[in-house]
Amino acid sequence: SLPDAITVFEVGPRDGLQNEPHLSTLGDKATALKIALINELSQTGLTHIESGAFVSPKMIPTMADSDIVFSHIQRHPNIFYSALTPNLQGLEAAINVNANEVAIFTSCSETFTQNNIHASIAESLKRFESVIAIAHQHLIPVRAYLSCVIDCPYEGKTPPQQVAEIAKTLIEMGCYQVSLGDTIGTGTPLRVATMLECVNQHIQSKAIAVHFHDSYGQALANIYQAMQMGITTIDSSIAGLGGCPYAPGASGNVATEDVVYLCQGLNIKTGIDLEKFTLVSQTLCQQLGIRPQSKVALAMAHR
Ligand code: HMG
Ligand code: MG
Repeated sequence: SLPDAITVFEVGPRDGLQNEPHLSTLGDKATALKIALINELSQTGLTHIESGAFVSPKMIPTMADSDIVFSHIQRHPNIFYSALTPNLQGLEAAINVNANEVAIFTSCSETFTQNNIHASIAESLKRFESVIAIAHQHLIPVRAYLSCVIDCPYEGKTPPQQVAEIAKTLIEMGCYQVSLGDTIGTGTPLRVATMLECVNQHIQSKAIAVHFHDSYGQALANIYQAMQMGITTIDSSIAGLGGCPYAPGASGNVATEDVVYLCQGLNIKTGIDLEKFTLVSQTLCQQLGIRPQSKVALAMAHR
């Protein structure tokens, strides 16, 4: 059965923009664009906005201004503004700007993890122990991302048991939730169901989020499948922007507009004002000079 309500976890300002080529052409204006975007998103009913990443600026230059972004946004009291923190250096930066939540990230594939965070999976988990401990000392909730839960761009199919084991470890280490990422968007509902069934044997549904990229147009079908199985946190990105530079061939995240429209039709509450949200999305796409990847945003623009 489907839930009455879900939480939409907006990752646009981070996952959406981290690999957006049009952002770098804006130069100094990029930071102002992000701040304005997050402020506008804060008025749409969202409760979670991933607003930056404290990662190597050499690897992800678009996120190098995350400290300025965090220091200049107008925070809404009911919103968690979160940041990616791969190590202690990142966590310290996030604490300095009062991030409301942080996220660590690893993957189910050794090659992807090595390319993305320069560590083996085991090394990454070891590294996260102190990140989680210090975040908790500062009363900052820690989320975890687990990438490549369906397929890895380098290693092929991921065994569901591998996903379940690492996800369980991350929760046992103190993360309040693990977001399962179909990083390259190859999943279909049957494989998603098999994977979630396996994870669900070890972790409660409320500690699981799903993070779909829409490369093959399967994201909404996969979300429908996940919601049927009791998952109530859905990651999505404004205008369907996004992608990880270490996931060759992957397209953007599922669009928030499309998720909200689906939920409206299913009588599932998201708390998000779709009209308002779509206006924010249109403004963003105009500023970046791109076409939205969201079908709903495109359709609504032509009414
Ligand atoms: P490393 O090279 O092993 O780090 O990278 P290091 O400790 O050896 O330090 C090397 C240099 O990086 C030093 O600078 C450090 O100061 C600096 P230098 O002395 O050479 O000038 N450094 C940092 N700078 C800023 N912030 C930091 C930081 N740490 C070290 N936190 C590291 C290890 C983890 C830092 C690096 O590999 C990294 O930043 N990786 C992040 C890559 C990334 O952000 N990928 C995209 C996000 S993941 C994703 O998109 C998937 C997801 O959406 C889910 C899905 O779709 O599946 C989440
Ligand atoms: Mg992603």
